Amino acid sequence: MKVISSITELQHELASFDKEQVALVPTMGCLHEGHISLIQKAKRLADIVVVSIYVNPLQFGVNEDLDSYPRTLETDIAMCEREGVNFIFHPQNLYPEDGIQVGLHVGGLSQGLCGASRQGHFDGVVTVVNILFNIIQPQLAIFGEKDFQQLAIIRRMVADLHMPVEVIGAETVREEDGLAKSSRNTYLNAEQRKQAAEISTALTLMQQAATEGLSLEDTLDIALAHLKQFDIQPEYLEICYTDSLLPAQSLDTDKPLRALIAAKVGSTRLIDNMPLCPTTAANPDPEDNPLCA
Ligand code: PAF
Repeated sequence: MKVISSITELQHELASFDKEQVALVPTMGCLHEGHISLIQKAKRLADIVVVSIYVNPLQFGVNEDLDSYPRTLETDIAMCEREGVNFIFHPQNLYPEDGIQVGLHVGGLSQGLCGASRQGHFDGVVTVVNILFNIIQPQLAIFGEKDFQQLAIIRRMVADLHMPVEVIGAETVREEDGLAKSSRNTYLNAEQRKQAAEISTALTLMQQAATEGLSLEDTLDIALAHLKQFDIQPEYLEICYTDSLLPAQSLDTDKPLRALIAAKVGSTRLIDNMPLCPTTAANPDPEDNPLCA
């Protein structure tokens, strides 16, 4: 495995591959089992795996955690080595000295959910992912479903801009108590760590409620009540259509649905999401619900 910080050096290395499929796993480091599952998926699907590690300043708001974002390069390198990664791309900076003048902008898909409170965040994400795609020119790129809005936006960027890369989503990896793995979990103290697991429990309760045939309102209420019981005030708690990420009007739909939550535990902002498979007149059999396929 090579750890490379220079763009030209990485491109020189990658130029020696002709027929091989290259997969990119973009990360901001502080790797955990969630990232490892992305890397393992990349290894299964491609010949050459590049992991980028770059804490992208463009996607952090002014009062966000850019400076304190955990940086664990040595451990990250060891983890990638163990997983058989071919290249780590760890650039010092991906932007011009005088700041970036031209970037990408996301429309309506970035207005709700995380985008509502993180102005400019998704513009920063798509801009850096676009830069990484241009530098590395991977055939495949793997992103976690935990950042569900990010995944939807990146899929849309690739489709809208006809980018020659296949975007692959990977399921969220969870701790034993259900908490979604995240680099930001390292900010939680023991008490907050316990509280944080209730976010995934709320989502599981929503899944159960939908499968039992409850309405959209009742399903949301059950999750809200659960979070309240554990002193968690969600920034958002929504059921959205999986593709458009627009709020669902009813659970009685033939469109796939996703329940999504963002909430602060202490000062740590956490996000999570799960698919819903509502039992409805159109899909009466929970054992054979096409929305869960
Ligand atoms: O999901 C992340 O870690 C980041 O948003 C990404 C995709 C690496 C872009 O900086």
